[in-house]
Amino acid sequence: GAHMTQRIAVIPGDGIGTEVMPEGLRVLEAAATRFGLDLDFESFDWGCGHYLREGRMMPADWKERIGGHDAILFGAVGAPDRVPDHIAIWDSIITIRREFDQYVNLRPARLMPGVPSPLANRRPGDIDFLVVRENTEGEYSSLGGRMFPGTEREFVIQESVFTRTGVDRVLRFAFELAARRPGRHLTAATKSNGISITMPYWDERLQAIAGEYPEVAWDKFHIDILCAHLVQHPDRFDVIVASNLFGDILSDLDPACTGTIGIAPSANLNPERRYPSLFEPVHGSAPDIAGRGIANPVGQIWSAALMLQHLGRDVSVWQDAADAVLRAIEAVLAEGPRTPDMGGTARTADMGRAIASHVAQAR
Ligand code: NAI
Ligand code: MG
Repeated sequence: GAHMTQRIAVIPGDGIGTEVMPEGLRVLEAAATRFGLDLDFESFDWGCGHYLREGRMMPADWKERIGGHDAILFGAVGAPDRVPDHIAIWDSIITIRREFDQYVNLRPARLMPGVPSPLANRRPGDIDFLVVRENTEGEYSSLGGRMFPGTEREFVIQESVFTRTGVDRVLRFAFELAARRPGRHLTAATKSNGISITMPYWDERLQAIAGEYPEVAWDKFHIDILCAHLVQHPDRFDVIVASNLFGDILSDLDPACTGTIGIAPSANLNPERRYPSLFEPVHGSAPDIAGRGIANPVGQIWSAALMLQHLGRDVSVWQDAADAVLRAIEAVLAEGPRTPDMGGTARTADMGRAIASHVAQAR
């Protein structure tokens, strides 16, 4: 409920992660004050600095340290000149996603005011869909290997893994989500014409789960033509569900269609709430602009809004708080101040303060 303290583990990470996180917290504090929410923040200095000091990205007991929190707000990690990227990413964010069984990766794509789209003749409101990506299995498995390396007989195999549990739960999540949206429409990505075992299975489960949701209209497209449709008719989509690989592709295509990567948010969800879910901007640590105080904080702030929505379940004051943050983001994107990536001259904190002040005045 509104009056239960929600404990948030805050992991700013590296580079601009440490610059956008204070703005995310500033806006959350404004929302907490305005809507009477009880948020308790605890910060963890994990990331590449921690790795260089202690030899690992997170302490050995990281799971106990944050496993009891209600949510994790994450910035970004990566210091590619000092720590190899596969270590920085795998030993932090990917470990958290897997160990906390965050099997849904959710990315909203919405064309916002003041953000030019590379797609011609699209206005705010024309593009507003959600990509639901399976986040734990599918094509991204570690089953396989290499034999006869360096010889004529050399070969490699990597198996895809689609379990009934894994497929059904992500499809069900996507149908539930679609059922609660006004559009009540779900699109599934497939490739059953080329991938002849796992993708027909995905389609078969889709058909079965769809039967549980007669109120949701649905269709499916092969991933290749779906990419084309998203560029040509982005207005036709509402909720899109995809396997790990196809969802990865779609979720980079969507911020590309809706403007700058600096504003794109994401949620990594464990819908059953056995473990905390994690909310993070889509962008990385941006070493090319880090330290200058000019990063766009909207991706972090929008991710914080997704967190409010998740924490509040269906309690309306939390939804109101999340909506107020979204409206504040829209107002500031439209009227400024704007950071340089959006053609403005504002600093990270100017944009964060402006959004927080809209939230404080929300009605
Ligand atoms: P990136 O997203 O950090 O940067 C890509 C480009 O977008 C850069 O030119 C950057 O300046 C710009 N950009 C990104 N966010 C911005 C913002 N908020 N405001 C203004 N401009 C912004 O991706 P890149 O350069 O490929 O990776 C940098 C590091 O971040 C690497 O170490 C990478 O592994 C890591 N990374 C971490 C992620 C995570 O923590 N989940 C996700 C993606 C990358
Ligand atoms: Mg990607």
